[in-house]
Amino acid sequence: MKKSRLAIFASGSGSNAEAIIKYFGNHPQIEVALLLSNNAQAYALERAKKYNVPSKTFTKTQFQNGEVNQWLKELNVTHVVLAGFLWLVPEIVLTTFPHRIINIHPSLLPKFGGKGMHGHKIHEAVVAAQETETGITMHEVNEHYDEGKILAQVKCAVLPTDDAAMLGERVLKLEHEYYPKVIEAWVTSSADRPR
Ligand code: GAR
Repeated sequence: MKKSRLAIFASGSGSNAEAIIKYFGNHPQIEVALLLSNNAQAYALERAKKYNVPSKTFTKTQFQNGEVNQWLKELNVTHVVLAGFLWLVPEIVLTTFPHRIINIHPSLLPKFGGKGMHGHKIHEAVVAAQETETGITMHEVNEHYDEGKILAQVKCAVLPTDDAAMLGERVLKLEHEYYPKVIEAWVTSSADRPR
């Protein structure tokens, strides 16, 4: 049987991308086909190189005019994984991969989501709001920021002594542990779902 092929989109450090690449390094059903970034300085590109995963950078124009979509088709990509990716996904990619684009967000959506809510800012807002718990949300991607069907959420405590950096570390650990497993379950179950 042919393997499902993931394209990972990452804008920054790429620690989630690395966790995913490692997890699927020797997987019987799923492989990482390439890593794409909108940011030529993204450390995610170095991480891809380290594991011999092909990588490419692209501009907003190439994303919107269908060029990136064409690369995905040429490489027989079956599923798209956003891992710390900060742009909206254009219509052409959404329609090519219906129910086959997943994102991770470091809060319990719908709380602390939406445009401009990413990385450190989220944890600062969670601490400022004196939440007692936070966590991660993995969801299907649509044309809006941080919306789309929620596939899984994992919670952790917010301690009274936490600052945003401490909380961010705890949440990132959860991401590395759970995102690859949720991707695995999602890809495996989507094989029986019509497009
Ligand atoms: C992760 O915490 C991810 O959930 C978040 O950016 C970070 C990227 O870290 N994504 C968002 O906030 C999307 N709205 P990484 O580059 O080390 O994987």
